[in-house]
Amino acid sequence: AKYDKLFETVKIGSMVLKNRFIQPPMVVNYCSSDGHVTDRYIAYIRARAKGGVGMIVTEATYVHSSGKGFINELGIYKDELIPGLKKLTAAVHEEGGKIAVQLYHGGRQTSSATTGMPIMAPSPIPCPFVGEMPKEMTEEDIREIVEAYGEGARRAKDAGFDAVEIHGAHGYLINQFLSPYSNKRSDEYGGSLINRARFPLAVVQKVREIVGPDFPVQYRMSAEEYVEGGLTVEDTKAFSIMLVDNSVNAIHVSGGVYESAAYILPPAAIPQGVYVNNAAAIREAIGAKVPVIVAARLKNPDMMVEIVEAGKADMISIGRTLLADPEFPNKLKTGKLEDIRKCTGCNQGCVDRLLAA
Ligand code: FNR
Repeated sequence: AKYDKLFETVKIGSMVLKNRFIQPPMVVNYCSSDGHVTDRYIAYIRARAKGGVGMIVTEATYVHSSGKGFINELGIYKDELIPGLKKLTAAVHEEGGKIAVQLYHGGRQTSSATTGMPIMAPSPIPCPFVGEMPKEMTEEDIREIVEAYGEGARRAKDAGFDAVEIHGAHGYLINQFLSPYSNKRSDEYGGSLINRARFPLAVVQKVREIVGPDFPVQYRMSAEEYVEGGLTVEDTKAFSIMLVDNSVNAIHVSGGVYESAAYILPPAAIPQGVYVNNAAAIREAIGAKVPVIVAARLKNPDMMVEIVEAGKADMISIGRTLLADPEFPNKLKTGKLEDIRKCTGCNQGCVDRLLAA
C-alpha cells in the first residue's frame, strides 16, 4: 500500500527498528527537580511506544549538573537515577518499542538559576536569551565533561536503553564548540573546523569507548545555525564525514540555535520539511553510509514517503505529530488516516502550555 515504505525495517548499527519513524527528543518538564523519572514521564513515553513509533529518543537528559537546562528535566548524571531509567526502558520494551537517551549539556544556553552552579561554555560569550556570562572552560573542565558524557553512556547501557543520541544540535554545549559563532578559543579546541570538532569528537570517542563497538550511537546536529558567522551546511557536511569515520551509526538532522529559535521549533509559518534538503546534502556527503534521520514539521505522510523514496533521508522524526496523536504510526499503518488527530504546528500555543505544565 501507499505508505508501506514507511513501515519497512531499518537498521541503526546492529539495532533493527520496526519502521522508519522516530520520536525526537522533546523536553516536557515532567521529571523531578533532580532529574528522576516520574510516573507521569513514563506514562507519556509509554503512550507513544504503544502508538507504534519505531524508536523514541528521551528528552534532553543532562550528563552533568552544570549542564541542566530545564527545571524538571530528565537526568543521567548520577547512578541513583538508574533504577528509574530502568522502569522507563522497561515500559517501552513492554510495548514493543525501542528507546534511546539524548545525552545533553546546556553550556551557555542555560542559567545558574537552573543548574545551581556557574555555567560554562567554550568561550565567555553570553547567550542573549539567558544574559549570563559563562565561564570559559579550562582543559580540566573539558576533560571532566567528556568523562561525564562517558558516564552518562555507561548508565544508559546499564538502564537498558537500546541506543544513545549525542545532542550536538540547537546551540547547546557540543554545538557551541563546533561553531565559529560561539567558539572563539585560541587553543587546540578553537579556530579551524578540525579544532572546533575536537571536543564533539572527543565526546563521540569517549561514548564509543564506554558502550563498546556494537552499541548504536547516533548524533543530532543543527546542519545550519541561521546566525551570521555560524555553521553552514558546508561545514556540517565535512563534520558528518568525521562523525561516520568515528563510528557514529546515524545522523539526526535538525537546525538552529537559541538566537535563531524559530528554527529549533519551526512554527506553522515555516514550510513543512524545512530541513529535508540539508538532510539530503548530508546523506550525499557521507555516501549514505549510515542512516540519516530528518526532523521538523513533518506531518504529511505523502511528503514522508516522497522523502524516503527520493533518498533524501532514511528515517522520519515526528515530534509534535506524536504529541498531537501518540497513535499516529498505528493509525497510518492500518489506514485510519481520518482518525489522526492533526498537529497544528504550534499555532495554538501548545508548546507554551506544555512547557508551563
Ligand atoms: C523540542 N525539541 C528538542 N530537540 C532536542 O534535540 N532536544 C530536546 O530536548 C528538545 N525539546 C523540545 C521540546 C518541545 C516541547 C518541542 C516541541 C521540541 C525539538 C524537537 O526534537 C523537534 O526537532 C522539533 O519539535 C521539530 O519537529 P516537529 O515537532 O515539527 O516534528
